Amino acid sequence: MTSQKIGFIMVIAGFIVWGGSIGIAKILVPERNPPVLYQGPIIGKQSDLILQRSCFDCHSNETQWPWYSYMPIISVLLAHDVAEGRDEMNFSEWSRYSVKKQKHKLKESIEEISEGEMPMKIYTWTHPYAVIAPEELSLLKKELLKLEISMPKEMSSDKSRDDHDDD
Ligand code: HEC
Repeated sequence: MTSQKIGFIMVIAGFIVWGGSIGIAKILVPERNPPVLYQGPIIGKQSDLILQRSCFDCHSNETQWPWYSYMPIISVLLAHDVAEGRDEMNFSEWSRYSVKKQKHKLKESIEEISEGEMPMKIYTWTHPYAVIAPEELSLLKKELLKLEISMPKEMSSDKSRDDHDDD
C-alpha cells in the first residue's frame, strides 16, 4: 500500500471515530429543548420570520443545537447562553407574558438590534444568516408599531404593581 493510501484510510477512520463520538454524545446528552408552549404570532408575519431566523436559537425552546454543541466545554458555554437567553425572553412561553411584558420585551429587542447587541456577535460569527439587515430592522419597527396600536392599552394607574416582574 502506498503511504498516500494509508493516509487516506487514516483520515476516513478518524472521521468515523469523531463522528461516532458526537453520535454517542447526542444519545447521552438529555433533551435540551423544553416543551414549546406557544407557537402563535409575535409581532407580525414577516417580523416573526426574522425573529425565528435570528433569535429563536437562544430565545425559544426550539433551539437548533449544532453538532459542536455536543463537544466538551463548548456544550457548557452554549447551554449557558441559551439558558440565559431563554430566561430573559422566551418566545415559546410568550402566551404566559402579560401584554405589558410582551410590549416591553419587544421594545427592548428593537433597541438591542439597533445597538448591534443582538443577535450576539459570537453567534452571527457562526450563523451569518442571522445578521439583521437595516431594512429588516425597519420592517420590525413598522410591524411593532402596528401591533402596538392594536394591543390593549395599558392602564396608566397600574404601573406600580407588575413593573418589577418585567425583567
Ligand atoms: C446566541 C444566543 C442569542 C441569540 C441568537 C440572541 N440572543 Fe438575545 N440574549 C442572549 C443572552 C445570553 C441574553 C442575556 C445576556 C445579555 O443581555 O447579553 C440575551 C438578552 C436579550 C434581551 C434582554 C436584554 C437586556 O439587557 O435586558 C433581549 C431584548 C434580547 N436578547 C433580544 C434578542 C433578539 C431580538 C434577538 C434576535 C435578533 C436575540 N436576542 C438573539 C442570547 C441570544
